[in-house]
Parts: sequence; structure tokens; C-alpha cells
Amino acid sequence: MEGVGAGNLRRVAGELAGRTALVTGASRGLGRVIAADLAAAGADVVGMARDPAALEAAVGSFGGPGSHSALPHDLADVDGIAARVEGLEVDVLVNAAAVMSARRSKTLDTSLDEWRDVRAVDLDAPFALVSALVPGMARRRWGRVVNLSACLGRMSGPGTAGGLAPYRVAKAGLNAMTRNLAHELALGRRGVLVDAVCPGHCRTDMGGPDAPRSVEEGADTALWLAARGSTLADPVPTGRLWEDRVEVPW
Ligand SMILES: NC(=O)c1ccc[n+]([C@@H]2O[C@H](COP(=O)([O-])OP(=O)(O)OC[C@H]3O[C@@H](n4cnc5c(N)ncnc54)[C@H](OP(=O)(O)O)[C@@H]3O)[C@@H](O)[C@H]2O)c1
Repeated sequence: MEGVGAGNLRRVAGELAGRTALVTGASRGLGRVIAADLAAAGADVVGMARDPAALEAAVGSFGGPGSHSALPHDLADVDGIAARVEGLEVDVLVNAAAVMSARRSKTLDTSLDEWRDVRAVDLDAPFALVSALVPGMARRRWGRVVNLSACLGRMSGPGTAGGLAPYRVAKAGLNAMTRNLAHELALGRRGVLVDAVCPGHCRTDMGGPDAPRSVEEGADTALWLAARGSTLADPVPTGRLWEDRVEVPW
């Protein structure tokens, strides 16, 4: 089991046992660890990513009592997302898949194609998944949406301070969508919590081998958010940006 200690697992299993979780980017990196943790906590997990073989291998490695399946899809095909997830009743949506923009892609030094390609996977695809899956969560009065954002997309600290423009701006958009949607869902009073996470700089294909944090450290807050208990009358704080289980400014 990766990423969640036995004590943590006992604590979160109550909320997640028997739930269905869809995790994008489940084939590797942070999405894979988050998906494995959700599976270990008792959820049925549907993994999405492009490469079917890598996704099958990842999903096949998940433990836990639930059933786990691979749903390969290129999220750049945003128009095809609704049909791909049609009929699924998802309780937990984790938008972890993303692509980075070219290292030198400043606003005045990027192409419209790159801008659109990054936005499609990093912002439009999460929107399409939210549109398809969150109405069911609201009807059933239980749901969790966890969006993997990035410090680079914040309006404070190191965020949106120049460079990597398509990626930073898409993540800033994801932050805005998170907050907006949470308010539209009455900040948890309809049973759906919507939050964003900065995982920090982690050792993945995107983060590189020299990043300071492990994938387990980066994945922890996403699992914690997915597993939080809440009530309709007195919901826990939601519509926030979190880092290491602590709220941080957008
Ligand atoms: N690692 C970091 O330091 C860091 C820091 C801040 C934020 N984040 C965020 O954390 C999340 C996970 O990052 P990571 O480092 O784990 O990334 P990663 O190692 O590069 O993995 C990306 C995942 O997304 C999937 N993916 C990429 N493009 C896709 C597409 N077009 N359609 C479907 N799936 C696609 C990949 O699978 P396929 O290639 O098979 O499609 C893979 O499963 C991202 O949202 C990222 O922006 C990461």
C-alpha cells in the first residue's frame, strides 16, 4: 500500500468505503498514488489516462476491497469526455492529470496551439468532468471534488509571477473554477465539497527526479480532502486551496 499509513487508513475508510472514485492521471505520479490510496481506503476506483497499458498496470496494482477499472481517454479530446463517463455514478472526482507547458513559454513567447493544448487538459477537461459527474453528487447529497492545482497558479507567493504561461494560467483558472463551483454548491450545504490542492514540488515525471518532495507527501492532502466527513447543516470549510492539509491563500 502506498501513501497512507495504517492509522490514517482506519480513520478515512469510513467515509470512502463503498464510494466510487474517478481519478484522472491514475497511471503514474501523484494521480497513481492518490488512486491507490483511495482504493486502499475502500473505494471502487476508475482510473483515467491516455496510455491504456500503463493505466491497466497501475489499476491492476491497486489493493483494497473494491473493484478497480481503467478508462483510457485522451483528455485533450474534451468533447468526448461526457460520453466516456456516461452512466458512471461517481462520488469522488480527483482531477490529477495535467500537462506542463514548454519551459520557455512566456505569454509573448508561446503559440496559440500550445495555449489551447495545455488549457484543454489542465482546465477544460476538469470542467467537462465536473459537468458530467457533479450533478449526480449534488442529487445524492454526497460528493468530493479534488483538483490538483499548483503553487504556480496562485495569485500570491510564487504563483503567476511570470513564465510557463499556459500552465500557470490554466491552473489559475482551475483555482477560480474550484472556488466558483464550491460557492454554487452552497459551500458544502448540498453535500458536495470542492477544493484545490498544491501538492508542492514532487518527484514525478512532471516534477523531475531532483524535486524535494516524495509522491506520498504530495498525494496526502488530496486523500485527506476526499475523505473528510461533513454535514449538510454545518459543513467543513470548502472552496479553498490547501497545502499539507493547511489552507493557503489563492
Ligand atoms: N509533480 C509536481 O511537482 C507538481 C507540482 C505542482 C502541481 N502538480 C500537479 O499535480 C498533478 C499530477 O502531476 P504529476 O507530477 O503526477 O504528473 P505526471 O507524473 O506527469 O503524470 C501525469 C498524469 O496525467 C496523465 N495525462 C497527461 N496528459 C493526459 C491526457 N491528455 N489525457 C489523459 N491523461 C493525461 C498521464 O498519463 P498518460 O501520459 O498516459 O496520459 C499521467 O497519468 C498535475 O495536475 C500537476 O499539474 C504537480
